Amino acid sequence: MGFFEFKELTKEYKRGKQPFNAVNHVSLSVEPGDFISIIGRSGSGKSTLLNMGAGLLHPTGGTVFFEERDIYGLNDKEISFLRNEQIGYVPQGQSLLSNFTVFDNVCIPWFLFKREGDVEGRAFTLLEKVGISHLAASYPKELSGGEMRRTALARALINKPQLLIADEPTSDLDVETTAEIMELFSRIAQKGTAVLIVTHELDTLNYGNKTYLMDAGNLLPHTA
Ligand SMILES: Nc1ncnc2c1ncn2[C@@H]1O[C@H](COP(=O)(O)OP(=O)(O)OP(=O)(O)O)[C@@H](O)[C@H]1O
Ligand SMILES: [Mg+2]
Repeated sequence: MGFFEFKELTKEYKRGKQPFNAVNHVSLSVEPGDFISIIGRSGSGKSTLLNMGAGLLHPTGGTVFFEERDIYGLNDKEISFLRNEQIGYVPQGQSLLSNFTVFDNVCIPWFLFKREGDVEGRAFTLLEKVGISHLAASYPKELSGGEMRRTALARALINKPQLLIADEPTSDLDVETTAEIMELFSRIAQKGTAVLIVTHELDTLNYGNKTYLMDAGNLLPHTA
């Protein structure tokens, strides 16, 4: 059993009166250091799967285990703490707080629960790693899409999570920046943090140790 597991994970939605499984009995086992990529067409259920994996969206069937604990059996406070402490999440689309600087956005997860340590030093190191330390004092509305994405990535890493989940972290980035971000994910995985991302097929060719295809709610192993 991996430290992070999807077991028969299912999300039923309704379109009109017609129910359908946006995610259909998906099982997946994640080990420390895994770098897992999920590809698939628009609407195939990728974000729905990641949102359930990140503890943000209750499944209608199956569940998610983190270190053998059923995360959907936890109460709200326990699940918030687990997410804050163990799961870094970069959602699809803009997720920064507009009234806070880049630097403060990165630090926020640190301050949500009582912690000790040099958060400022760590935030600057992370901003350097993602290549935007010169933007520390900028506000989200002053950033490009790729700079926002990189801020969200630094924010996801501030609490040293065991698992990093990112939903299309390289969409709308140029080829070079995409390679930089994918290499950063590789290094993160090599240090033992599991990385689970939704991405494009081309980005998976040189990176990651496992690739899956999401097809109408079903998760299938994929070989290039
Ligand atoms: N709240 C909802 N109610 C009903 N249907 C939904 C809801 N959220 C998503 N869906 C449907 O579930 C399916 C999966 O959506 P999801 O966002 O997971 O797709 P995706 O693979 O991430 O697509 P994209 O590549 O465009 O981001 C889609 O058909 C979508 O229309
Ligand atoms: Mg999506």
